[in-house]
Amino acid sequence: MSGDALNVKNLSVVYRTEAGPVHPVTNVSFNLRPGESLGLVGESGCGKTTVAMALLRLLPDNGEIVSGSIDMGGVDIVELEGAELEDIRWRRISMVFQAAMNSLNPVHKVRDQIIEAIDAHETVPRAEAEERTRRLFDLVGLDEQLLERYPHEYSGGMRQRAVIAMALACNPEIVIADEPTTALDVIVQDRILKELQSIQDQKEMAMIYISHDVAVIAEVSDTIAVMYAGQFVEKGPSDVVFARPIHPYTDALLASVPSVRGERKELRFLAGEPPSLSDIPASCPFAPRCSRALPVCDAEIPPLIGDDTHWAACHNPVEAILS
Ligand SMILES: Nc1ncnc2c1ncn2[C@@H]1O[C@H](COP(=O)(O)OP(=O)(O)OP(=O)(O)O)[C@@H](O)[C@H]1O
Ligand SMILES: [Mg+2]
Repeated sequence: MSGDALNVKNLSVVYRTEAGPVHPVTNVSFNLRPGESLGLVGESGCGKTTVAMALLRLLPDNGEIVSGSIDMGGVDIVELEGAELEDIRWRRISMVFQAAMNSLNPVHKVRDQIIEAIDAHETVPRAEAEERTRRLFDLVGLDEQLLERYPHEYSGGMRQRAVIAMALACNPEIVIADEPTTALDVIVQDRILKELQSIQDQKEMAMIYISHDVAVIAEVSDTIAVMYAGQFVEKGPSDVVFARPIHPYTDALLASVPSVRGERKELRFLAGEPPSLSDIPASCPFAPRCSRALPVCDAEIPPLIGDDTHWAACHNPVEAILS
């Protein structure tokens, strides 16, 4: 076994629609080490949430994993069914959903919802489940008295913390946080991200943070993966990728966030649109928008360049890393 918390190989997902198949995730491979925090970043619609839903096998009915494997400690999540799948989901890998603030049930007290989440996956005496719920609230910085309240009595930030507590309820090895703070103001956002990081350290969980906001990803991630039109185009240690991106798309993305590089300059606007996901070219999907595009970029699938630690899929990289 690899010792990775997660090892994803050649994962592809298709959504079947009346207008034909859509390819939100194509040939995605990555590994996640125990305790690592991986940031997944890319423009809206590039397939980030679909990757997360595929990892948990929670794709909508018209979505299907058409190839690849998701290895978690020697078990391929793609192959699991029924009780085996239920056993891994939430207990070993859980998720804070995008727009999670709406995912609490308005008619039940928050405590009962968390206890229900525990009961669904473990056999725990009521008193122990209640005690665990109190500790979870402590951990995410919520007053215990709020346990007795209904979601509408919470502020947006409190609700988000409650949803994070729920994702942690069964002590998972991996937590996926999909835009965990996007709907919150920047101060609350910053506080919750810092708390999540400290919880991650205490519990030695691996985390996958998903955001379209590079600044958020920069703050929380050891490793960053950049996604474009359903593909991972670059992956590497965050500080290295920020300092020396290989892929022109990563470079353009970083240029749009001056604070990441600590310099103020005019934001570079990335002209054009990503390709349609129903018609992914057998060449570089970024070529039509790329300032470094060569004839080969429109003709051939780009090679992976770099090394296992920091790689990108590109014919004409920003950094002359091969010389
Ligand atoms: N059930 C579905 N059926 C058909 N297409 C879908 C379905 N769900 C998502 N899509 C499409 O798949 C693509 C990827 O969607 P996804 O939600 O994974 O993107 P995302 O990167 O998470 O975007 P955002 O940053 O806006 O959350 C989008 O083009 C979306 O419109
Ligand atoms: Mg999403």
